[in-house]
Amino acid sequence: MSLVLDPAAQDLLFREARTANTFTDEPVSDEQLQAIYDLVKYGPTAFNQTPLRITLVRSAEARERLVQHMAEGNQAKTATAPLVAILSADNEFHEELPALFPAFPQAKDLFFAERSAREGAAGMNAALQAAYFIIGVRAAGLAAGPMTGFDFAGVQKEFLDGDHTPLMVVNIGKPGADAWYPRSPRLAYDDVITSV
Ligand SMILES: Cc1cc2nc3c(=O)[nH]c(=O)nc-3n(C[C@H](O)[C@H](O)[C@H](O)COP(=O)(O)O)c2cc1C
Repeated sequence: MSLVLDPAAQDLLFREARTANTFTDEPVSDEQLQAIYDLVKYGPTAFNQTPLRITLVRSAEARERLVQHMAEGNQAKTATAPLVAILSADNEFHEELPALFPAFPQAKDLFFAERSAREGAAGMNAALQAAYFIIGVRAAGLAAGPMTGFDFAGVQKEFLDGDHTPLMVVNIGKPGADAWYPRSPRLAYDDVITSV
């Protein structure tokens, strides 16, 4: 009774939600992606820097190029998912920062003048946003299959540029037959939470 979120929504987002390895043919529309983004864009990031960038791999030709860079065990699901997205971190996010964090426009030059500082912040905050994105996919009644098993340098060269670091590739769609392995255990509260 401690959670205010509707129990059905708790199941949809977490308890019943699974990482899908197979998908049906049902397409995922741009409208669904727009709705997902318009929800998860509100997830918090440091200085509201929002460094996540999402590349939708829509054409068959681009899909084929991506599959070549996936680890062998990830190739079939990436080839057959209705939609595949490449999530990356924009290491030049600071250019938008004065507009995105008008309360403190000096942050751009004070904290993010150095590329190394931007890369650290972009990696951390884009990863947070990737998690929001996965939950948003679930909120749309879809399943996500996030993957880091791919050639990062190859994907960066093929689809991004030197300012964008790949984070993960996410298969998106309705789960297909035998979509998941048995649920793996999770750590218990007492294994994870300490109080000081
Ligand atoms: C960042 C990230 C990277 C992952 N990389 C892969 C991958 O390369 N290949 C794969 O088959 N599963 C991958 N997974 C899937 C995880 O193994 C799966 O989400 C986890 O075991 C929980 O499964 P469940 O949601 O069905 O409980 C990845 C998941 C995440 C979040």
